[in-house]
Amino acid sequence: MRLKGRLLSVAEMVPRSKCVVDVGTDHGRLPVWLVKSGIAERAIVTDISAASLKKAEALIKAHGLESKIEPRVGDGLSVVYPGEADTVIVAGMGGLLIRDILKNAPHVTASVKTFVLQPMRAQGLLRKWLADNGYTIVDESLVREKDKFYEVIVARHGRQHIPKDVYYDIGYMLIKKQDPLLKEFIEHKMAKIAAIIEQLESQGTPDSKKELDEFKRKLEEYREVYQWVTRYDRSSR
Ligand SMILES: C[S@@+](CC[C@H](N)C(=O)[O-])C[C@H]1O[C@@H](n2cnc3c(N)ncnc32)[C@H](O)[C@@H]1O
Repeated sequence: MRLKGRLLSVAEMVPRSKCVVDVGTDHGRLPVWLVKSGIAERAIVTDISAASLKKAEALIKAHGLESKIEPRVGDGLSVVYPGEADTVIVAGMGGLLIRDILKNAPHVTASVKTFVLQPMRAQGLLRKWLADNGYTIVDESLVREKDKFYEVIVARHGRQHIPKDVYYDIGYMLIKKQDPLLKEFIEHKMAKIAAIIEQLESQGTPDSKKELDEFKRKLEEYREVYQWVTRYDRSSR
Protein backbone atom coordinates (compact mmCIF):
# COMPACT_ATOMS: atom_id res chain seq x y z
CA MET A 1 0.00 0.00 0.00
CA ARG A 2 1.33 3.43 -0.95
CA LEU A 3 0.65 6.76 0.71
CA LYS A 4 0.89 10.11 -1.02
CA GLY A 5 0.39 13.82 -0.39
CA ARG A 6 -0.89 14.85 3.03
CA LEU A 7 -0.91 11.36 4.57
CA LEU A 8 2.61 10.59 3.35
CA SER A 9 3.86 13.86 4.87
CA VAL A 10 2.28 12.94 8.20
CA ALA A 11 3.77 9.43 8.01
CA GLU A 12 7.25 10.81 7.26
CA MET A 13 7.17 12.83 10.49
CA VAL A 14 6.46 9.80 12.70
CA PRO A 15 9.54 8.56 14.60
CA ARG A 16 10.30 4.87 15.16
CA SER A 17 7.80 3.86 17.83
CA LYS A 18 6.88 0.86 19.92
CA CYS A 19 3.22 1.82 19.86
CA VAL A 20 1.52 4.58 17.87
CA VAL A 21 -2.01 5.76 18.59
CA ASP A 22 -3.82 7.15 15.55
CA VAL A 23 -6.74 9.18 16.91
CA GLY A 24 -9.61 9.59 14.43
CA THR A 25 -8.10 7.02 12.08
CA ASP A 26 -11.14 6.68 9.75
CA HIS A 27 -9.78 4.64 6.77
CA GLY A 28 -6.77 3.42 8.81
CA ARG A 29 -4.29 3.89 5.94
CA LEU A 30 -1.72 5.71 8.07
CA PRO A 31 -1.31 3.11 10.86
CA VAL A 32 -1.34 0.22 8.37
CA TRP A 33 1.47 1.91 6.41
CA LEU A 34 3.44 2.68 9.60
CA VAL A 35 3.28 -0.90 10.86
CA LYS A 36 3.95 -2.44 7.44
CA SER A 37 7.00 -0.24 6.94
CA GLY A 38 8.34 -1.10 10.41
CA ILE A 39 8.21 2.49 11.74
CA ALA A 40 5.70 1.40 14.37
CA GLU A 41 5.95 -2.02 16.03
CA ARG A 42 2.25 -1.87 16.80
CA ALA A 43 -0.65 0.57 16.75
CA ILE A 44 -3.90 1.41 18.48
CA VAL A 45 -6.41 3.08 16.18
CA THR A 46 -9.36 4.98 17.56
CA ASP A 47 -12.38 6.71 16.12
CA ILE A 48 -15.46 8.27 17.70
CA SER A 49 -17.50 6.75 14.88
CA ALA A 50 -17.98 2.97 14.84
CA ALA A 51 -18.81 3.19 11.12
CA SER A 52 -15.50 4.95 10.40
CA LEU A 53 -13.57 2.43 12.46
CA LYS A 54 -15.14 -0.42 10.45
CA LYS A 55 -13.24 0.90 7.40
CA ALA A 56 -9.97 0.71 9.34
CA GLU A 57 -10.85 -2.78 10.61
CA ALA A 58 -11.41 -3.99 7.04
CA LEU A 59 -8.05 -2.57 5.92
CA ILE A 60 -6.22 -4.09 8.92
CA LYS A 61 -7.76 -7.49 8.09
CA ALA A 62 -6.93 -7.16 4.39
CA HIS A 63 -3.26 -6.69 5.36
CA GLY A 64 -3.33 -9.46 7.99
CA LEU A 65 -2.32 -7.05 10.76
CA GLU A 66 -4.99 -7.96 13.38
CA SER A 67 -2.30 -9.01 15.90
CA LYS A 68 -0.45 -5.67 15.55
CA ILE A 69 -3.17 -3.03 15.12
CA GLU A 70 -5.95 -2.77 17.67
CA PRO A 71 -9.11 -0.76 16.84
CA ARG A 72 -11.01 0.98 19.65
CA VAL A 73 -14.19 3.05 19.39
CA GLY A 74 -14.15 6.18 21.52
CA ASP A 75 -13.68 9.90 21.95
CA GLY A 76 -10.11 11.13 21.54
CA LEU A 77 -7.62 9.50 23.91
CA SER A 78 -10.32 8.36 26.38
CA VAL A 79 -9.88 4.76 25.21
CA VAL A 80 -6.10 4.75 25.65
CA TYR A 81 -4.39 3.90 28.95
CA PRO A 82 -1.42 5.82 30.36
CA GLY A 83 1.87 4.30 29.21
CA GLU A 84 0.39 2.41 26.25
CA ALA A 85 1.80 4.59 23.49
CA ASP A 86 5.00 6.49 22.83
CA THR A 87 3.61 8.37 19.80
CA VAL A 88 0.21 9.97 19.25
CA ILE A 89 -1.00 11.06 15.81
CA VAL A 90 -4.03 13.30 15.36
CA ALA A 91 -4.51 14.19 11.69
CA GLY A 92 -7.20 15.60 9.45
CA MET A 93 -9.16 17.38 12.20
CA GLY A 94 -9.58 21.01 13.21
CA GLY A 95 -6.90 22.54 15.43
CA LEU A 96 -9.36 23.21 18.25
CA LEU A 97 -10.54 19.60 18.27
CA ILE A 98 -6.91 18.42 18.34
CA ARG A 99 -6.28 20.81 21.25
CA ASP A 100 -9.29 19.40 23.14
CA ILE A 101 -8.21 15.81 22.52
CA LEU A 102 -4.80 16.55 24.12
CA LYS A 103 -6.26 18.78 26.86
CA ASN A 104 -8.84 16.19 27.95
CA ALA A 105 -6.32 13.38 28.51
CA PRO A 106 -3.39 14.73 30.56
CA HIS A 107 -2.94 11.33 32.27
CA VAL A 108 -2.38 9.74 28.82
CA THR A 109 -0.34 12.51 27.17
CA ALA A 110 2.07 12.66 30.14
CA SER A 111 3.82 9.43 29.08
CA VAL A 112 3.72 10.07 25.34
CA LYS A 113 7.02 11.18 23.81
CA THR A 114 6.00 12.52 20.39
CA PHE A 115 2.81 14.09 19.05
CA VAL A 116 2.36 14.30 15.27
CA LEU A 117 -0.47 16.73 14.59
CA GLN A 118 -1.99 17.76 11.29
CA PRO A 119 -4.64 20.42 11.87
CA MET A 120 -6.91 21.32 8.93
CA ARG A 121 -7.65 24.81 10.35
CA ALA A 122 -6.96 26.95 13.45
CA GLN A 123 -3.28 25.96 13.15
CA GLY A 124 -2.20 29.19 14.89
CA LEU A 125 -4.48 28.59 17.87
CA LEU A 126 -3.15 25.05 18.21
CA ARG A 127 0.49 26.25 18.13
CA LYS A 128 -0.30 28.86 20.78
CA TRP A 129 -2.05 26.31 22.98
CA LEU A 130 0.93 23.95 22.66
CA ALA A 131 3.40 26.70 23.60
CA ASP A 132 1.26 27.81 26.57
CA ASN A 133 0.74 24.29 27.89
CA GLY A 134 4.16 22.71 28.23
CA TYR A 135 4.77 21.51 24.68
CA THR A 136 7.58 22.43 22.33
CA ILE A 137 7.36 22.17 18.56
CA VAL A 138 10.41 20.23 17.39
CA ASP A 139 9.65 19.91 13.70
CA GLU A 140 7.14 21.00 11.08
CA SER A 141 6.52 20.45 7.40
CA LEU A 142 4.29 21.71 4.64
CA VAL A 143 2.64 19.77 1.87
CA ARG A 144 0.49 21.00 -0.98
CA GLU A 145 -2.30 19.10 -2.66
CA LYS A 146 -3.77 21.03 -5.60
CA ASP A 147 -4.21 24.57 -4.25
CA LYS A 148 -4.41 23.63 -0.57
CA PHE A 149 -1.53 23.66 1.89
CA TYR A 150 -1.39 21.30 4.86
CA GLU A 151 0.75 21.82 7.96
CA VAL A 152 2.26 18.94 9.93
CA ILE A 153 3.45 19.76 13.46
CA VAL A 154 5.65 17.52 15.61
CA ALA A 155 5.54 18.38 19.32
CA ARG A 156 7.10 17.00 22.49
CA HIS A 157 6.85 17.94 26.15
CA GLY A 158 9.04 20.93 26.91
CA ARG A 159 9.29 24.68 26.99
CA GLN A 160 9.22 26.96 24.03
CA HIS A 161 9.57 30.70 23.62
CA ILE A 162 7.66 32.18 20.69
CA PRO A 163 9.16 35.65 20.19
CA LYS A 164 6.32 37.03 17.98
CA ASP A 165 2.66 36.13 17.49
CA VAL A 166 3.22 35.78 13.74
CA TYR A 167 5.13 32.55 14.42
CA TYR A 168 1.89 30.94 15.59
CA ASP A 169 0.54 31.41 12.05
CA ILE A 170 3.78 30.71 10.20
CA GLY A 171 5.47 28.00 12.21
CA TYR A 172 8.94 29.00 13.37
CA MET A 173 10.37 25.55 12.53
CA LEU A 174 9.21 25.98 8.92
CA ILE A 175 11.34 29.11 8.74
CA LYS A 176 14.28 27.61 10.60
CA LYS A 177 14.49 24.57 8.33
CA GLN A 178 13.63 26.63 5.24
CA ASP A 179 10.76 24.41 4.16
CA PRO A 180 10.76 24.32 0.33
CA LEU A 181 7.08 25.35 0.21
CA LEU A 182 7.37 28.18 2.74
CA LYS A 183 7.59 31.04 0.27
CA GLU A 184 4.48 29.89 -1.62
CA PHE A 185 2.70 29.19 1.67
CA ILE A 186 3.23 32.75 2.91
CA GLU A 187 2.23 34.15 -0.50
CA HIS A 188 -0.97 32.11 -0.28
CA LYS A 189 -1.68 33.42 3.24
CA MET A 190 -0.96 37.03 2.21
CA ALA A 191 -3.32 36.73 -0.79
CA LYS A 192 -6.09 35.46 1.50
CA ILE A 193 -5.61 38.36 3.93
CA ALA A 194 -5.42 40.90 1.09
CA ALA A 195 -8.80 39.61 -0.18
CA ILE A 196 -10.33 40.00 3.31
CA ILE A 197 -8.90 43.54 3.57
CA GLU A 198 -10.44 44.44 0.22
CA GLN A 199 -13.81 43.11 1.35
CA LEU A 200 -13.68 44.97 4.70
CA GLU A 201 -12.64 48.19 2.98
CA SER A 202 -15.73 47.99 0.78
CA GLN A 203 -17.96 47.62 3.89
CA GLY A 204 -16.63 50.75 5.59
CA THR A 205 -18.56 50.29 8.90
CA PRO A 206 -17.05 51.12 12.37
CA ASP A 207 -16.99 47.38 13.19
CA SER A 208 -15.23 46.53 9.95
CA LYS A 209 -12.69 49.33 10.62
CA LYS A 210 -11.45 47.57 13.77
CA GLU A 211 -11.19 44.24 11.97
CA LEU A 212 -9.55 45.98 9.03
CA ASP A 213 -6.80 47.42 11.23
CA GLU A 214 -6.18 43.99 12.72
CA PHE A 215 -5.87 42.35 9.28
CA LYS A 216 -3.62 45.14 8.01
CA ARG A 217 -1.33 44.60 10.99
CA LYS A 218 -1.28 40.85 10.28
CA LEU A 219 -0.47 41.43 6.60
CA GLU A 220 2.43 43.69 7.60
CA GLU A 221 3.79 40.97 9.92
CA TYR A 222 3.49 38.34 7.17
CA ARG A 223 5.31 40.69 4.76
CA GLU A 224 8.19 41.05 7.23
CA VAL A 225 8.54 37.27 7.53
CA TYR A 226 8.23 36.91 3.75
CA GLN A 227 11.02 39.42 3.14
CA TRP A 228 13.22 37.64 5.62
CA VAL A 229 12.46 34.23 4.08
CA THR A 230 13.02 35.33 0.47
CA ARG A 231 16.35 36.88 1.41
CA TYR A 232 17.60 33.37 2.14
CA ASP A 233 15.67 31.65 -0.62
CA ARG A 234 18.22 30.25 -3.06
CA SER A 235 15.72 30.25 -5.91
CA SER A 236 15.26 34.02 -5.64
CA ARG A 237 18.99 34.80 -5.81
C1 LIG B 1 -11.42 13.73 8.27
S1 LIG B 1 -11.21 12.24 9.12
C2 LIG B 1 -9.44 12.12 9.19
C3 LIG B 1 -8.99 10.71 9.02
C4 LIG B 1 -7.50 10.50 9.08
N1 LIG B 1 -6.99 10.78 10.40
C5 LIG B 1 -6.78 11.34 8.05
O1 LIG B 1 -6.01 12.23 8.42
O2 LIG B 1 -6.97 11.10 6.84
C6 LIG B 1 -11.62 12.62 10.79
C7 LIG B 1 -11.97 11.38 11.61
O3 LIG B 1 -11.92 11.75 12.98
C8 LIG B 1 -12.99 11.15 13.67
N2 LIG B 1 -13.23 11.94 14.89
C9 LIG B 1 -13.82 13.14 15.00
N3 LIG B 1 -13.83 13.55 16.27
C10 LIG B 1 -13.20 12.59 17.00
C11 LIG B 1 -12.90 12.42 18.38
N4 LIG B 1 -13.23 13.34 19.28
N5 LIG B 1 -12.27 11.30 18.76
C12 LIG B 1 -11.93 10.34 17.85
N6 LIG B 1 -12.21 10.45 16.54
C13 LIG B 1 -12.83 11.55 16.11
C14 LIG B 1 -14.12 11.15 12.65
O4 LIG B 1 -15.09 10.17 12.96
C15 LIG B 1 -13.37 10.85 11.35
O5 LIG B 1 -13.31 9.46 11.08
